[in-house]
Amino acid sequence: MKTFLPYRIPALDDEERALLERIETLKKERNAVILAHYYTVPRVQDAADVVGDSLALARAAEETDAEVIVFAGVYFMGETAKLLNPDKLVLMPDNSAGCPLADSCPTDEFRAFKKEHPDATVVSYINSTAEIKAESDIVCTSSNAEHIVRQIPEDKPVIFGPDRNLGGYIQRKLGRDMIIWQGYCYVHDAYSWDYIARAAAEYPQARVIAHPECRREVLDHADFVGSTGALLAYTEESDAAEFIVATEPGILYEMKKRSPGKSFIAAPATSGSSGSVCTQMKQNSLKKLCECLERSEPEIVVDKDLAEAALRPIRRMLEMSA
Ligand code: 13P
Ligand code: SF4
Repeated sequence: MKTFLPYRIPALDDEERALLERIETLKKERNAVILAHYYTVPRVQDAADVVGDSLALARAAEETDAEVIVFAGVYFMGETAKLLNPDKLVLMPDNSAGCPLADSCPTDEFRAFKKEHPDATVVSYINSTAEIKAESDIVCTSSNAEHIVRQIPEDKPVIFGPDRNLGGYIQRKLGRDMIIWQGYCYVHDAYSWDYIARAAAEYPQARVIAHPECRREVLDHADFVGSTGALLAYTEESDAAEFIVATEPGILYEMKKRSPGKSFIAAPATSGSSGSVCTQMKQNSLKKLCECLERSEPEIVVDKDLAEAALRPIRRMLEMSA
């Protein structure tokens, strides 16, 4: 008898089916596109036109010709979509869904941090506020961070924020010292090798895969490290049949859909747990998604000057990772 059971796709109920139909109708009436992150609940992913990682969703927001963008994710994601589309209506099912990692970097403290290293190039993870982006030279996501930092001349100091685990991972991969802001994601920082090893002992053939926001002890043991999009692609392409997944378990839905014959085990974060959940991502319910299309709110609004300043490093990222 195993302690850690493989993920199973939850069945669709009648209420959810009716909401999905209503959303489909509203989407057509409003000429809206729904973008959702992999960490949202399965039914919200079902309603979406694009499900992706932060970079794929930013690109989808940049490229869409829909009049209305509905972003099911956390606030910095909806805000980024708005920065890329200042003239469009950008809605979120729940605009109180923040990202504690982004919020762990207050602007005044970050400005003082920058002042200590005036020659540094500032690279900010997309999981940051518009104010922090406006203080940065280049934005990056977990899928292009290594590629972006690689393009900065070796003799140039680099400030990286706000995630210490992603920053440390890039630093080790490139063998290059960076000045790292000490923020972290409570969801990923909760994983420890101690607990994951218990699941690995139950599934000795499984590959352990991890998001770079996890702590070093987890990343050092993992068979593969990557953004949510890269983890998903790995599970599809790998010849392995079992995976222990150290990232938010919302992504197991898409993994299982794409590889129904394979087994996905949410890495335990504590004794007997099944993954480490981002409660902010789960604030995006199917009901709230439907209501936001019906009422055209809550809308994401960003101050014009701030938007211009925050967009510059995002555009730079898109150019550098083209
Ligand atoms: P990805 O860009 O890898 O999807 O990561 C987003 C995120 O919030 C991870 O916690
Ligand atoms: Fe933010 Fe972590 Fe949630 Fe990602 S998983 S949105 S970094 S709190």
